[in-house]
Amino acid sequence: MFRWNKNLTLDIDRIDNQHQEIFKSLSKLHDTLNCPNRKNNMNTIWASYENMKDCIILHFLFEERMIFKNSNIDFEKHKNEHQLLVNFIEGMDLDNSFLNRMHLLNQIQFIGNWFCKHIELYDEKFVH
Ligand SMILES: [Fe+2]
Ligand SMILES: [Fe+2]
Repeated sequence: MFRWNKNLTLDIDRIDNQHQEIFKSLSKLHDTLNCPNRKNNMNTIWASYENMKDCIILHFLFEERMIFKNSNIDFEKHKNEHQLLVNFIEGMDLDNSFLNRMHLLNQIQFIGNWFCKHIELYDEKFVH
């Protein structure tokens, strides 16, 4: 469901690859939650969630090191945007994932949309 599209490319390989990995990890978590026929136990759901969270946090740390070195970019503002998303992810209630599946799917969609906007509004500044 989260397709990489070329408009999101920054032409910085490591960043582009990390963004693609994030979209893949979101799709994987979405599929895990969205497939009632598959025997997804809590361990599988947690593993997909942790993988998605790790991809995102490691990417933010990598990017923040780049921003810090580039004085043209507003470091605090960009870093604060990252932190708000990490707070959102950490607030997701996976323990009740069978009861609030739709809510979680909406939250995953929100994260995907957040990245599309964030890349366009913030990460693009790496190349301009
Ligand atoms: Fe990014
Ligand atoms: Fe960013």
